[in-house]
Amino acid sequence: MTLPHRVRITDVGPRDGLQNEAGVVPLEAKVAFVNQLARTGVAEVEASSFVSPKWVPQLGDAEALFQRIDRPSGVIFSALVPNERGFDRAMALGEQRPDKISIFTAASETFSQRNTNATIAETIERCAPVVAGAQQAGLPVRVYISCVVACPYEGAIAPVKVREVVERLMQLGLDPDGDDFDLGETIGVAAPNDIETLYDELEDLIEPRQTTLHLHDTRGTALACAYAAMQFGVVRFDASCGGLGGCPYAPGAAGNLATEDLVYLCRRMHCETGVSLDRLLVAGRQIAGTLGRSLPGRVFGAESAAGGGSISVAAESTGRGSS
Ligand code: HMG
Ligand code: MG
Repeated sequence: MTLPHRVRITDVGPRDGLQNEAGVVPLEAKVAFVNQLARTGVAEVEASSFVSPKWVPQLGDAEALFQRIDRPSGVIFSALVPNERGFDRAMALGEQRPDKISIFTAASETFSQRNTNATIAETIERCAPVVAGAQQAGLPVRVYISCVVACPYEGAIAPVKVREVVERLMQLGLDPDGDDFDLGETIGVAAPNDIETLYDELEDLIEPRQTTLHLHDTRGTALACAYAAMQFGVVRFDASCGGLGGCPYAPGAAGNLATEDLVYLCRRMHCETGVSLDRLLVAGRQIAGTLGRSLPGRVFGAESAAGGGSISVAAESTGRGSS
């Protein structure tokens, strides 16, 4: 069993999580959530989206959020941007703009249409000026490819489709070392062998360490997939506090891999994350209180049942990770 010494985690809960809530979470609660996440030790927080508020009203307050959150040094704050309009909104924030721009496309034509009203080719075309603008501003880019294993409308997606999209994205001048190729298992169907097959297909095009794996935990397989991926060299993962999440345009997709579950596993296996489990639990309790319900993450549930304290203290002192 070969595991990386260290894993980098982006918490996407404020974006991928809150975009999927039935109601709009009040701005104050979002700001508090992002601020708490930024103090957990995660490398990056995807804080909001500059998408059309007609499409995702839950995140229509992206400007106000970026104007109000704390920006502790050492933490990257990213935001989803679908087109030039979104990029201009983000850049108009001046010094309060995101540190990183997340663009998105898919390996499924139907998902691309449902999510962005555009073909895959059109989404990549739309991304071109955003990539150029980000490069001019010196900002790194994350590019999500959704449905890398399956699509809620088309079913299984052939790994070669993902390869074709990665190839097309590389033609935009994205740098596999400086930018972030983010593979989205949007609906949470994958088992470890699917992830291995996908990375086998991408071999010689992009290295596992140059990708981020974005897992949803709909069927309870996300942690198994993350563990398998770590063994063949993936060191960057997206996860969401408490397992919040989904996608309004992916019916049936449940929450992301819970950040606590990933951190807990890493700690037990002596793989550093730099993340404080206790602080994550504080952030999770705050947002659960706002939402008025518990969160699906397993560690979050276990800690809530135990009343906090003893188990998390044991977890904090396990492994060599700092918090
Ligand atoms: P459209 O309707 O085809 O285009 O939307 P449009 O240009 O006609 O825009 C519609 C309206 O929105 C217009 O307003 C535009 O001005 C406005 P109107 O003229 O009717 O008053 N508009 C905007 N407003 C603010 N900011 C903007 C913007 N753009 C247009 N940036 C569009 C096309 C791409 C805009 C739309 O489809 C969209 O915003 N889609 C985003 C959907 C989304 O956010 N989905 C969830 C995120 S993806 C995800 O969750 C997967 C991921 O987690 C990875 C994984 O799990 O796989 C990333
Ligand atoms: Mg997602």
